[in-house]
Amino acid sequence: MAGTTLLDIKGVQTYYGNIRALNGVDVTVKQGEIVALIGANGAGKSTLMMTIFGAPRARAGTITFAGIDITQLPTHEIARMRIAQSPEGRRIFPRMTVMENLQMGASLDNLQHYDEDVEKVFTLFPRLKERIAQRGGTLSGGEQQMLSIGRALMARPKLLLLDEPSLGLAPLVVKQIFDAIRELNRTQGLTVFLVEQNAFGALKLATRGYVMVNGNVTMSGTGKELLADPDVRAAYLEGGHH
Ligand SMILES: Nc1ncnc2c1ncn2[C@@H]1O[C@H](COP(=O)(O)OP(=O)(O)OP(=O)(O)O)[C@@H](O)[C@H]1O
Ligand SMILES: [Mg+2]
Repeated sequence: MAGTTLLDIKGVQTYYGNIRALNGVDVTVKQGEIVALIGANGAGKSTLMMTIFGAPRARAGTITFAGIDITQLPTHEIARMRIAQSPEGRRIFPRMTVMENLQMGASLDNLQHYDEDVEKVFTLFPRLKERIAQRGGTLSGGEQQMLSIGRALMARPKLLLLDEPSLGLAPLVVKQIFDAIRELNRTQGLTVFLVEQNAFGALKLATRGYVMVNGNVTMSGTGKELLADPDVRAAYLEGGHH
């Protein structure tokens, strides 16, 4: 259902040892949205993504997914609720082939859809089909990112988390990746929460966005509002391609 809250993060604090990386973060993602989280290096964006999966664990606050409190659930149970991620740095299996990487993403519940799901990934990223037997580690950066997203999609997620999908990629490849995310959202209604340093691209893609500074959300709004905001422009968009 459109407009229903899918992911609700409230007052989340996360620590590394005694150092607090998230200072009480509130973020909501509604069904069918693309939500972008932008912020400088070290702001805590990846920490928030990882906290959703319970590693590291939130020390305060709550994380609710589809109405269920997942704050203390074991990571594998969180994944079983159909939250999938493409983590920062992609983390594909370098010695496994493209096909084997995709197999790793499929959950046991989905084996009856396996061929269909692989075909869907190849329709979205035809480059991967051409490289079906190639080892992950020998793919280009852009192809690895496609594989990382493809592997996440094999879990048939209700929520896709993407940590810096555009990092280190040439503008044309970034466009292919962002187009694919838009397409998944538009045609399949997939809900997406993405972290990006490419603030311009992310806010153009997103329904709504949040700005994180030093472990705090300091601003939120529609993608359009944030793109037009003078503070956002000064901090994240000046000198960028816009
Ligand atoms: N495993 C860890 N142990 C200790 N401190 C950590 C660890 N991981 C992250 N931090 C610290 O937590 C803070 C937030 O880091 P995080 O990786 O979440 O930032 P980020 O917004 O994702 O940055 P970037 O844009 O560079 O990826 C930083 O100060 C970082 O040094
Ligand atoms: Mg990060």
